[in-house]
Formats: sequence, C-alpha cells, structure tokens
Amino acid sequence: MINIILIGFGAVGQGVAELLYRKKSEIERLIGKYRVVAVCDSKGSVIDENGLRIPDVIERKKKGAFDGKKSIEVIETLDYDLMIEVTTTDVHSGEPGLTHIRQALERGVNVVTSNKGPLVVAFSELNRMAEKKGLRLMYEATAGGAMPLIKLAKNDLAGNEILFIKGVLNGTCNYILSRMEKERMTYSQVLVEAQELNIAEADPTYDVEGIDAAAKLVILANSLMEMDSCFRDVEIRGITEITPEAFEVASTRNYTIRLIAEANREKRILKVSPRLVPFHHPLAIRGTMNAALIKTDLAGDVVVMGRGAGKYETASAIISDMVEIYRKRYE
Ligand code: HSE
Repeated sequence: MINIILIGFGAVGQGVAELLYRKKSEIERLIGKYRVVAVCDSKGSVIDENGLRIPDVIERKKKGAFDGKKSIEVIETLDYDLMIEVTTTDVHSGEPGLTHIRQALERGVNVVTSNKGPLVVAFSELNRMAEKKGLRLMYEATAGGAMPLIKLAKNDLAGNEILFIKGVLNGTCNYILSRMEKERMTYSQVLVEAQELNIAEADPTYDVEGIDAAAKLVILANSLMEMDSCFRDVEIRGITEITPEAFEVASTRNYTIRLIAEANREKRILKVSPRLVPFHHPLAIRGTMNAALIKTDLAGDVVVMGRGAGKYETASAIISDMVEIYRKRYE
C-alpha cells in the first residue's frame, strides 16, 4: 500500500486529488494499491490514516480552510511513502515548498512536485539529498506542465547529449502574444483576458516579465544539461514592451514574435526574451500551448508541444511521475 500525503490544495492539488480518486482503478493497475492519508492547505489539514474519501475532502474544503495539523507537522509525524507537493511557487525563497521537500526527503520518502521554487533555489541540494537516500524526487510538472519534456529527455533520449533547448515555456505570454499578433491588440488589453483563463500565476508579473519562463529554464538546464545554474544566471526580458506595431513589422518578413527561453551549455546561454520566429517554425505555436525544441547530438532535433498549465493538465504530469516511481516495484 502506498500512503500519500498531498501538500497544497489549490487548483492543482484538487486536480491531483480528483484524478487519484476518479482514475484509481487505472492507476492501481500500474502501481498497486494506494491511499491518500492527509491533505493539507496553507492553514491546516484533514487526516485519515485509513485513507481519505476525496469527494468528502473537496466538500470540506468548500466550507473553508482546513483546521487540522499544519503541513509541517503532518510531514514530520505521519506515516507515509510519497509526498505530492503542490504549493505556490516563490522563485526567490523557494518557500514553503523548499522546507516541505527537505523535511520529506529527510524522513526518507519520495517526492513529486509541481512547485518550481524549491528546484530553482536548491536544485543540487535536493537532488543530492534524494540520491544519497535512494529516494526519487520527480518534477515533470514544473517545466511545461503536461508537455512531456523532462522524462522524455531523460528516458527516451537517454544517451544523447542535449546541445540546446529553445522553448515557449509560458502559456500566459504565448496567449497574449498570439492575440496581439492576430487582433493587433495592446499588451494591457489582452492581459486581463489571459488572467481569466486561470493559467496566469497568482502574481501575473511572474508571467509577463519572463520570471516563470526563467524558472522553468533553470530547472531544464540543471536537470537535462547539467548546467548547475541558478535564477540569477538567466538574462530575462519579458513581453511588456512589445507593441502591436512590432507584429506589423515582423509580419512583413513572415515572422511573428514569441517569448523564447533558451539554454545552451557550450555557449553558456541562459536567456528568456521576445524573439522573432518564422511563421511556420514549430515554436510559432498559438494560444496557451507550450513547445520545446531539443537539439541533441544523436537524435537531432526533437520537438514537443503540449499544455503547460491547467488543473488537470498539471495533475496529469504529477500522476505520470508517481507512476514512474512506483511502476517498476510492482511489475
Ligand atoms: N503561469 C504559467 C503559464 C503556468 O502561464 O504558463 C504555470 O507554470
């Protein structure tokens, strides 16, 4: 029996809980029996060591914040095998996720997270800690949401050297730029629309100033290209100064503008900036989609695209990490 604690119960946390409930028989066919023994939000928790009934937890949450033990106490005292950490990202302090992940690894349990903050702030420390203890720390959802990227590069491209990655890693910016391209609207007119899609960060400056894309780039550079980088290493320019006229000029030469994140180890490039992209290039995708072009020494160019945000999309990446951890043990 895999005992799970779920830390964070916003949109992503609720998406994960719903999938763990709704897809229980499919997931158990892959990994064996599991149960959720605790769910925490920022105020407290609900706990049942025999397994919580998720619809009851969601109903309970509708009535307000949880009032049981605080997340840190749950992490330190309960008996469990896997922590799913989906609290809000803070790329500067990494908290509260950083403390949660440190404590869980310290206690000897596997961790799956969608929280970019802890990995941006302490990538090597956390990975070394997990490795030393023979634990798994999985974070597919942190960079590109449901777009298969980290496991694809680590598993399916194993043996390749990744020479560079260029990607559209922020759905909010891509939506704004796509709308500006099509309707020639101004940046501020479209921002409100983008926020209504519920994929923007709690603080949308994280999106439009390129901070969210830079955080994802640090995680990709460190996990797939051994660049040992930190947030300060990224040269960042967001999309706030892009005008509708810029699209006009670009389109006369069959180009559009996208916020491109680029990591290149040999050239020591770590950069997020608006770039001209030919209309028919794979990175000229529209709407809230994410895309990445991975240049490798053996497989050549590999292009992936998918949904970089959203309740169930992000939860999908978390479930796939969980299956990756436990599948082998039960095969
Ligand atoms: N706010 C992000 C985006 C989603 O718009 O892509 C989560 O990283």
